[in-house]
Amino acid sequence: MAAKEIARISRPDPERFLRDYVRTRTPVIITDLFAGQPIDAIRTIEDASAAFGNVPMHVQTEYAVAASAPESAVETTMTFDEYWAHVRAHPDTALLCTEYEIPANIMQMFRLPEFCLADDLDRPEVLDMPRKYGDHDLCSNIFVANAGNRAHLHFDGDHRQVLLHQMFGRKQVLLFQPEACVDLRTTSGAPWSSGVYLERMSTAEQLDFIAEVGGYHAVLEPGETIYMPALIWHYLGYVDDAMSFNLRFKRNRYGRFLCVDNIHRDSYVQNLGSHLASDGDNPALAEAMPQIEAEYLRPAASLREKVSGMRAALRRACEQALPQTEPARFCPPQLDEQELDKIIADIGQTARYLDPELTAKSRPTGPISPVQKQTIRNTAARLGYSDELLEHLLWNRLGKSDLDALSKTEAVQFMVYMRSPGGALR
Ligand SMILES: [Fe+2]
Repeated sequence: MAAKEIARISRPDPERFLRDYVRTRTPVIITDLFAGQPIDAIRTIEDASAAFGNVPMHVQTEYAVAASAPESAVETTMTFDEYWAHVRAHPDTALLCTEYEIPANIMQMFRLPEFCLADDLDRPEVLDMPRKYGDHDLCSNIFVANAGNRAHLHFDGDHRQVLLHQMFGRKQVLLFQPEACVDLRTTSGAPWSSGVYLERMSTAEQLDFIAEVGGYHAVLEPGETIYMPALIWHYLGYVDDAMSFNLRFKRNRYGRFLCVDNIHRDSYVQNLGSHLASDGDNPALAEAMPQIEAEYLRPAASLREKVSGMRAALRRACEQALPQTEPARFCPPQLDEQELDKIIADIGQTARYLDPELTAKSRPTGPISPVQKQTIRNTAARLGYSDELLEHLLWNRLGKSDLDALSKTEAVQFMVYMRSPGGALR
């Protein structure tokens, strides 16, 4: 089998995008998603410096480097230009900007595509837990790093669909469907991380591996946007000094329930979640959910017992709804205890498996309050937003351009956005 190169298409209409790519979990590169918008004119580091060189960014030591040498790990704020001056002075720096809010100066240069909006606003949530991030449940991040950086092969736990837009520099993208988990040796690393080190392979070896296991590859060029299906395995390599941002969208009620806010990560959640994200109305998949919800609610003596019970319920669901993925192979019984240890180490210090009633009580509901509205207006004025820019940022960040239409939760999200280092207009 030859390694599959990810196809390139022109901006599809929303219906076709959802039917041909989201529904079928097929990655694709859109060559002109933001054609005609100001962001499309940013194709080099010089273009970016001229447009937003003085914008502050949150930078930190790369995750794996920080983990191996915590005493030298750094977390700070510097401007875009300062960051690149630092890279010139220290070409091997492990400092990068990753997974941080998109600064207002950059956010104003593009418009969130309509197809990113939720289409399930009238459907009840699983176990009645209110949406934590607003009606459209959106999230977005920027990434800025020097050549040679990479993100080790892993899958994300938020169950959202992803668009990754490359502004300047090229990025190598290698993807594998969730069902490749056995070949990706997921039991040898963290529960969401592969035991296969693509970063240690030559390009020819990477392509051989992709052909053997059945993956996808591409090098994303400036101005291009890749669609990555929810929960897909991804490896990203910085071919050049590069900048990109992602838009995370269209998570459905199942994804909100099964995501890392509530549940651990493993191959069962990943595989079931991937199919539910693309095809949530599939009866075989939907029928598997009540037993998982019941297990979630069942009292357990410890977190370990809870995770163990959930893994059994998720495995049964995979066996019933996705027999073709051969869930029995995901984790051989002799590795089950070791896998449980790793999951507990991964989530032990965080809040998961909370009582849905308590969760519901902790989340604000209802429309934006007059105080919130006034706070947003005052802060927006102080940060230099015009009315038009405020509407634009509300649209990109929350999928709503009318301040009056926000919920309390969305107002909180936006206030957090405005407080981020790049929140002010420069
Ligand atoms: Fe990721």
